[in-house]
Amino acid sequence: MKKHQLDTPALVLDIDILDENLRKMRDLAAAAGKKLRPHTKTHKCTRLAARQLEMGNCAGVCAAKLSEAEGLVKAGIGPVLITSPVSTPQKIRRLRELAGQAPGLMVVVDDLDNARMLDGAMESVGRLDVLIDIDPEMGRTGIAYDQAAAFAGALKNIPNLRLCGIQCYAGHLQHIADYGERRHLTLERMRRAAVLKKELGVEILTGTGTGTADIDIEIPELTDIQVGSYCVMDSEYTFIGSRDGEENHFFRPALTLLCSVVSRNQRGFVTVDAGLKSLYFTPHAPPRVIMDGVMRADYNYDWFGDEHGKLCFPGEKPALGTVFELSLPHCDPSINMHDRIYVVRADEVIDTWPIDLRGMAQ
Ligand SMILES: Cc1ncc(COP(=O)(O)O)c(C=O)c1O
Repeated sequence: MKKHQLDTPALVLDIDILDENLRKMRDLAAAAGKKLRPHTKTHKCTRLAARQLEMGNCAGVCAAKLSEAEGLVKAGIGPVLITSPVSTPQKIRRLRELAGQAPGLMVVVDDLDNARMLDGAMESVGRLDVLIDIDPEMGRTGIAYDQAAAFAGALKNIPNLRLCGIQCYAGHLQHIADYGERRHLTLERMRRAAVLKKELGVEILTGTGTGTADIDIEIPELTDIQVGSYCVMDSEYTFIGSRDGEENHFFRPALTLLCSVVSRNQRGFVTVDAGLKSLYFTPHAPPRVIMDGVMRADYNYDWFGDEHGKLCFPGEKPALGTVFELSLPHCDPSINMHDRIYVVRADEVIDTWPIDLRGMAQ
């Protein structure tokens, strides 16, 4: 079947572009002596996670949530690092179960009370490996740099936890358009994390994202990069400046959304079958129509409620059922709205991968 024969809305993944992105990130990391720890929050698909591991040079994978980690372990994917604190009593009970089945499982901590709860849960099970989550002045999770040494000292006295390293993820810097500014800010954050790693004498310094990976790998103490979006590549990321120029085309968008015309009775636009329930709302960077591999500036997509979108363009209205291909400015939350990804090679559908971790928000 050709991709344009798929029913819509449908997520379509170009396998050759995906593999090119996976290879490029693997080689970028390897050349700097770093490992990858791909973040599976981006795609929530164990088939894709397995492909990332097969590409090689991985220290493991990341999960944002405990339930994602459970899904990965069930699919035989690991070792898994959970990059957000696991703090509710229900989840801590599940984490204890998971630890028994998941060699190399690690979780971040940023609070002594949480560490004590984890310690209690791990009693008689064995030691749980933890990383200190550093807050690189993003203010989401993590502990301030200047409190980390004291926190690490306290953790060393907690018998059922083993401190393996630190995590430093500066999400707020990833999309800074000016390359020089992004570089300056991320190196400043990462250098402080590197100093801390040396001070604590720990094994791991993990962090970074697609926007700063090529910069952060210059830090000698960084051991692995927990990049997510690069594999399917948000089209939004292509508009931030790179080392080489105003746009960033090193990784290429591999994932698009097909939609089709469901109504054309209005003047000046047609209505398509992709709205808020299949395409994440990014009003600052709307999806673009792609034709023959080119993003068209003369076609405008806008969300038109939950199930529909509005497509404006000059010229004749297309027939009902005409299929359009849209770019995905931010893939991660859009993927989470679908059951499967259609895998294509040169427009031929060659496979279907279930998005088996979708909805796993706990
Ligand atoms: C903790 C953490 N690490 C890594 C990433 C990956 O970032 P990116 O998708 O920009 O590669 C994310 C993404 O949100 C994240 O939350």
